[in-house]
Amino acid sequence: METEKKTQTAAAQMTDRDLSEQIKKVTKESHVRAENTELMMSFQKAQVTLPQYKLMLCSLYEIYQALEEELDRNSNHPGVAPIYFPAELARLESIEKDLEYFYGPDWRQKVVVPAATKRYCQRLRQIGKENPEFLLAHAYTRYLGDLSGGQVLGRIAQKSMGLKNSEGLSFFAFPGVSSPNLFKQLYRSRMNSVELTEEERNGVLEEAVRAFEFNIQVFDDLQKMLTVTENKLQSCLTHSTPVIVKTLQ
Ligand code: HEM
Repeated sequence: METEKKTQTAAAQMTDRDLSEQIKKVTKESHVRAENTELMMSFQKAQVTLPQYKLMLCSLYEIYQALEEELDRNSNHPGVAPIYFPAELARLESIEKDLEYFYGPDWRQKVVVPAATKRYCQRLRQIGKENPEFLLAHAYTRYLGDLSGGQVLGRIAQKSMGLKNSEGLSFFAFPGVSSPNLFKQLYRSRMNSVELTEEERNGVLEEAVRAFEFNIQVFDDLQKMLTVTENKLQSCLTHSTPVIVKTLQ
């Protein structure tokens, strides 16, 4: 893509004062913790199961719905406009496609999410109203993550769950991005072009750490939901009680 090429020069000119460098630095430790959550470890060890993946998609659905609605609503805000790339990045429709593939046409009634997901979405909606420039921190955390480790995770997920022709894996595919690396460079240079006061910049950096924290809490809650369901199932089988595990099948 032409725009992606243009950013190669911009990337070579980045400095320590750049938001893209600062945000990466302040979230480094959180990134390690996110990678080491049980759910993310299952992906990395190629042990991700269908119930895990389906439950994660449900939460991603609510998270991206809130994130993308707030980005759309604030698309002209000076803190959002430079990093607003709906054609290249928007995930909501891809997730809907995946949910329909796994749960069927009435998938909307089957979406279940833990409390941590609700809290994450509430925060997104709150900052969309009160501090739209903080949306940058959340968009960075999710989209740049999806374009980085997420690309490897998609391939692993396909193998682990034996999914054919990438069915159910639209979430990982970015047909509008020809080179994730070049696009990430473009995104970073756009982040660096946003004009922020010192106070706003610190707020964005804090929000990025918070965004990682929300993701970690969602992963931990999802894992708890799965463990509870497995244990219930186990105990019902042990006691010969018939069981219907509606939402996690
Ligand atoms: C970048 C791996 C989970 C957010 C990256 C990069 C890798 C990676 C290899 C590229 C680093 C670079 O270019 O210097 C992984 C793996 C994960 C994982 C293996 C879990 C299995 C996550 C999660 C999030 C996340 C859960 C957030 C919710 C990011 C972000 C970047 C990134 C925002 C861009 C960093 C930057 O260049 O500023 N990840 N990641 N990652 N990851 Fe992850």
